[in-house]
Amino acid sequence: PVLVVDFGAQYAQLIARRVREARVYSEIVPHSMPVAEMLAKDPAAIILSGGPSSVYVPNAPQVDAGVFEAGVPVFGICYGFQAMAQALGGTVARTGNREYGGTPLRPRPDSGALLRDLPGDLPVWMSHGDCVTEAPPGFVVTAESAGAPVAAFEDPTGRRAGVQFHPEVGHTAHGQEMLTRFLHDIAGIEPTWTPENIIDEQVARIREQVGTKEVICGLSGGVDSAVAAALVHRAVGDQLTCVFVDHGLLRAGEAEQVEKDYVAATGIRLKVVDSADRFLTALAGVSDPERKRKIIGREFIRTFEAAARDIAAHGDVEFLVQGTLYPDVVESGGGAGTASIKSHHNVGGLPEDLGFSLVEPLRTLFKDEVRALGLQLGLPEAMVWRHPFPGPGLAIRIIGAVDRERLDVLRRADFIARQELSAAGLDRGVWQFPVVLLADVRSVGVQGDGRSYGHPVVLRPVSSEDAMTADWSRLPYDLIARISTRITNEVAEVNRVVLDVTSKPPGTIEWE
Ligand code: XMP
Repeated sequence: PVLVVDFGAQYAQLIARRVREARVYSEIVPHSMPVAEMLAKDPAAIILSGGPSSVYVPNAPQVDAGVFEAGVPVFGICYGFQAMAQALGGTVARTGNREYGGTPLRPRPDSGALLRDLPGDLPVWMSHGDCVTEAPPGFVVTAESAGAPVAAFEDPTGRRAGVQFHPEVGHTAHGQEMLTRFLHDIAGIEPTWTPENIIDEQVARIREQVGTKEVICGLSGGVDSAVAAALVHRAVGDQLTCVFVDHGLLRAGEAEQVEKDYVAATGIRLKVVDSADRFLTALAGVSDPERKRKIIGREFIRTFEAAARDIAAHGDVEFLVQGTLYPDVVESGGGAGTASIKSHHNVGGLPEDLGFSLVEPLRTLFKDEVRALGLQLGLPEAMVWRHPFPGPGLAIRIIGAVDRERLDVLRRADFIARQELSAAGLDRGVWQFPVVLLADVRSVGVQGDGRSYGHPVVLRPVSSEDAMTADWSRLPYDLIARISTRITNEVAEVNRVVLDVTSKPPGTIEWE
């Protein structure tokens, strides 16, 4: 792998993703990992990431010079660049020249392997208070900027290089090209990390892990469980049984998508547990958000367990598939087998003590890779590109108690919003687009030829990278207008449509 050494902040994940986009497998390791351990992973290259610290304060994370002695190509970025300079005998100082944001970069005429033939005054993204003031002995300075006399350097082979700016962010022109050059041309790494190869590799691993035992997998309708199950099915065929607990809280068409389109695309054996009555009975009269979540979580686990016992009664079930992704693994410490699901978002998930061993074929993958795999495996596009959807479903998008009538109203309104968003070609322009029914609120309106006293729905389109923070999406007004008109015309119970213009924080994405 290419190792991305994490010096803190959020840079390492983005770098690791960009490396994967260059079709090269990458892994994030903490800066505290001993060099011997890094080298034991036989890295094809090492990238030192940015970080929030200053290299010369006491206890600042350092780079062990041993990294440079093993002949492995090393690329330093921002903090990693400065730490590299320091470790190799260059100088880093606080010159008072800070640079934040877009900055023109001036490559030197003989600009070395990394920046060769790139245009002058290249816009790059900077974020630094300290500067490298002297490159290490034997290194060539290949670019400068107004605030950074040494904005890039490399050794005569190019195999040890660094830049002050962030090539991994979209604001840096030719940033991806620089990373690709380093990985492919300079380090000589073959771009073999393709969906086809990932599938082959995972299929082999799953076969080895599972052997002849039986496997079960819970499908939620989301892309992660769908892809995880499809991979396992590709590996062990009908040793896999999928369970779909239909809690009756999904959006219009979603249950059918799992039961018909997904099964048709994969040939997976699916056990559907139609549990809407059970969930709605347990939820009757409950409007407190935390109680709703608890009830749904509990009922889900009980229902799934019963279905699993049923399947286990007929075979030798030893494994449970989970769609854990790489960011969860990294954020929970990265160790093998660590708990990987944020408890707050665990509703609709399963506890780890169900008595099965876990199969986690997506543990090394980012979301965009999971989607690419899904397409390669022939899954329905609507599933592959589905926006994130909370485990408790529409229950936490009805403000007030949940019942069939209210679910039906919300489903019809939500369907219109989704349909118009798609028709405008903006599905991928938002992260999520919750539609929320304020079921206990009524307002006066005039519909047709009379006074109405109906419910408001809230449109909550948001943009986000990871759901940790979000901003409200500036959707075109005419799209909002079409959605509003159609909902109030076609859903008689709703006489008002409002737009949520709150970022997260302080709001959350969902209303409950
Ligand atoms: P909030 O509302 O906290 O949501 O900003 C952040 C992201 O998490 C999703 N979400 C959940 N997902 N089970 C889930 O699987 C849950 O209980 C749950 N609650 C929120 C939400 O849709 C958003 O993407």
